[in-house]
Amino acid sequence: MAEQVILPAFQPSLFKDMAVPKKSAKNAEWGTFKDSLRAPVHRWFTYPAGFSYKAVEHSIERYEVTAGQTIYDPFMGSGTTNVVAKTRGIHSYGVEAHPFVYRIARTKLNWDIALSDVLAFIKLVRQKLPVLSQEIKESDDLLLEDIFPELILKCYEPEALVDLLALRTLVLEEDLEAGVRDFFFVVVTALLREVSTAATGWPYIAPKKQKVTSLDKDVFTEFSNLSRRMIEDIAKIKEISGGRFEQSVHRLHNGDSRNTEGFIPDGVVDHVFTSPPYLNNFDYADRTRLELYYWGEAKTWGDISKNIREKLMTSATTQIARSNPKYKISQELWIECPEVAGFIADAVATLSELRKTKGGKKSYDLLVAGYFNDIYQIIRDVYRVLKPGTKALFVLGDSAPYGVHIPTDELIGKIGVCVGFHHYDIEVLRTRGDKWKKNPQRHSIPLRESIVILSKS
Ligand SMILES: C[S@@+](CC[C@H](N)C(=O)[O-])C[C@H]1O[C@@H](n2cnc3c(N)ncnc32)[C@H](O)[C@@H]1O
Repeated sequence: MAEQVILPAFQPSLFKDMAVPKKSAKNAEWGTFKDSLRAPVHRWFTYPAGFSYKAVEHSIERYEVTAGQTIYDPFMGSGTTNVVAKTRGIHSYGVEAHPFVYRIARTKLNWDIALSDVLAFIKLVRQKLPVLSQEIKESDDLLLEDIFPELILKCYEPEALVDLLALRTLVLEEDLEAGVRDFFFVVVTALLREVSTAATGWPYIAPKKQKVTSLDKDVFTEFSNLSRRMIEDIAKIKEISGGRFEQSVHRLHNGDSRNTEGFIPDGVVDHVFTSPPYLNNFDYADRTRLELYYWGEAKTWGDISKNIREKLMTSATTQIARSNPKYKISQELWIECPEVAGFIADAVATLSELRKTKGGKKSYDLLVAGYFNDIYQIIRDVYRVLKPGTKALFVLGDSAPYGVHIPTDELIGKIGVCVGFHHYDIEVLRTRGDKWKKNPQRHSIPLRESIVILSKS
């Protein structure tokens, strides 16, 4: 958000009792994916929105969640919570609305891949890939520019892209068992950023910036190495688990956590550990654009909106059409949680005025209303599925669109109490955004990443 602050920080009139966070948690990196990039299986897909597997482990130990109990992540993402649960023999539920990300999680939870199947497919690829690549090069019908959107053409050398197209064909069309196909879907997905000559580091893709280290990388060699590394990861994580994983069941759902009735019965969950989208305008759908374009799951911005953006809870202005009435604070939220609804209404009104003064005219006003409508429904559903005497932990950051501070952690805590939770605590993981302080284009409101702990009595 590059807009200048023109109003002083928003003063919440209704929140005189704004809680001072109780204590600091030990690890400032828990809200980031850094630890997970070094851990077997967790590292299969670099998900910028992911959190540290250590945060999940800590929560499981702190609240004594044991093998045979059940943990639920309503924003499963790439499956960090569920992979930790499986390692420890804890059952899990996971809901993820983004179909591509869901597929990654599903694959990371399937440890039944046989080494022999993997080696057989590597062998098949070694034989067929050069032949298929040659056919593509010689064909008049298979033109790369007809098959791939421009972004993909800009990210790869033509030679590598021909191999990647051949590889895609083999993974999608060869006769593979479903789990094995998923496994190679994830291998090739990971490979995409390895062999790209554009600076494709997460979350942004910079096709104009060249990554010279990728120039010498050969698609087949990288594919073969990654496949072997991933199958070794399965052996490693099974060893860490010491056999506990075999007793656990993992039910994953590509759907919407605003309402999971029909998927998760009432009162069956012992612990929730999750991280919702932050209210920071991060477009989850767009951040997987390279992958969706490569796999042919989307060709345009419109495809991504229809297939993904519209299915996710509101957390980015790119999801919003101003004519859609759903971005008004819901009646249910007003009735069940008037204090929070009043606070949000004040913020929405301020943002609506600020918007008129800004060149970009970002719909932060509707974003805030839509975000809390959705969060409210999810917290209500989380309350429904939890057993009495349990806790739900939400890792999240607050935000300050147009310089208006929205204390997301505080608001989620209060919504929790409105829907029936006995009380809430907030623990701050780290303060954020300090680096912007000297930049006059940015607001100077101190932001933080915290854990909200909702307790059900
Ligand atoms: C902060 S990320 C969670 C990342 C996860 N903790 C991990 O380590 O990979 C939030 C996730 O919520 C998903 N999401 C957004 N709206 C959703 C909804 N209505 N139901 C379920 N998942 C949703 C997004 O696609 C995104 O993957």
